[in-house]
Amino acid sequence: MSFASVLVLNGPNLNLLGTREPAIYGSETLDDVAKLCRDAGARLDLSIDFCQSNAEHQLIDWLHAARTKVDGIVINPAAYTHTSVAIADALSAIEKPVIEVHISNVHRREAFRHHSYVSAVAEAIIVGCGTQGYVLALERMATILKNRAAK
Ligand code: DQA
Repeated sequence: MSFASVLVLNGPNLNLLGTREPAIYGSETLDDVAKLCRDAGARLDLSIDFCQSNAEHQLIDWLHAARTKVDGIVINPAAYTHTSVAIADALSAIEKPVIEVHISNVHRREAFRHHSYVSAVAEAIIVGCGTQGYVLALERMATILKNRAAK
């Protein structure tokens, strides 16, 4: 039994990781990222639920289900970061710690990527660290959840 459970949620087009714009997103696939997260989870004593969808409603449905099932959320909302009030609202409704991850440094890219609806509801944001950002997010999440458990 792990001490806590974390949902790692991935938004649209991240299923194409490895072949999609490798100069920006690298050559690792989403399966490689899932393995990175599961290995980090095993090391940090976190159980990991790893999901990806291209559909906004599916991401929102998974977030609703997570309300009673998980202790924290790591999310790369991909393009919905910059457009979706609905995903930000779903994250607020959950009342669990949220860490936002972006593989690329969105602030070095087009201006429309500089605004995130999700950042206002996130405890932390990890940007531009490649797929290692997911591992860093899980490490931070483990610390947040341990600190909460100790209170
Ligand atoms: C991304 C950055 C977003 O702007 C983009 O739409 C993505 C991926 C990233 O991980 O760098 O699909 O979230």
